[in-house]
Amino acid sequence: MSLYAIGDLHLSIGCEKPMDVFGGRWENYVEKIRDGFGALMPDDVCVLCGDVSWGMDLQSAAPDFAFIDALPGRKIILKGNHDYWWSTAAKAKGLLASMQLEGIDFLHNNCFFYGETAAICGTRGWFFEEEKGTAHDRKMLLRELGRLETSLKAAGDREKYVFLHYPPKYGHYECGEILDLLSQYGVKLCASGHLHGPALKLAFEGESRGVRFLTVSADHLGFEPKKLLD
Ligand SMILES: [Fe+2]
Ligand SMILES: [Fe+2]
Repeated sequence: MSLYAIGDLHLSIGCEKPMDVFGGRWENYVEKIRDGFGALMPDDVCVLCGDVSWGMDLQSAAPDFAFIDALPGRKIILKGNHDYWWSTAAKAKGLLASMQLEGIDFLHNNCFFYGETAAICGTRGWFFEEEKGTAHDRKMLLRELGRLETSLKAAGDREKYVFLHYPPKYGHYECGEILDLLSQYGVKLCASGHLHGPALKLAFEGESRGVRFLTVSADHLGFEPKKLLD
């Protein structure tokens, strides 16, 4: 059993928003994703770090879930800023149950135990972009901090691997509150997505305050999930 992560699959099998139009790395990206998952075994676990489907509602995202479920390994999905299909995790779970897709779980106010000693924690995270300093910005950040702490607490004394959509450290930006939580809970590794194309140049990868940071956007990884743990 191995633990993998990849973010930002940006699938649109059930709706017309293919990423191939961006050309370059995104050309034939669905095939690249299928090939990239070829290395995974059925007992592996892969965390999908948000921006999973362009579907505007659950019905239009359903074909993307079917595609994801058919890839090898168990998949754990967290929410990205473009996952408009996500109204509640309960509704998404209901859709998966009705489609008999049993290989997908959602990381949302919870954690998943991995092996004997590790735990998979996380949430979407927050990124100021256009809203820095507004009341809404503060509210969203506090909500995400609460979700992350709930997830970390649920992990107990296990070794914590955190998965976010938004990078908490990027270029000159740092989300101090999220970085504090990661340090406080002794998090081993933090993987995030969201960054694409030229923005990837500003990704922070390396160690800071005892936490290892990784960027796992699909186009950054060549559409191959990154192995984190055996
Ligand atoms: Fe994205
Ligand atoms: Fe994103």
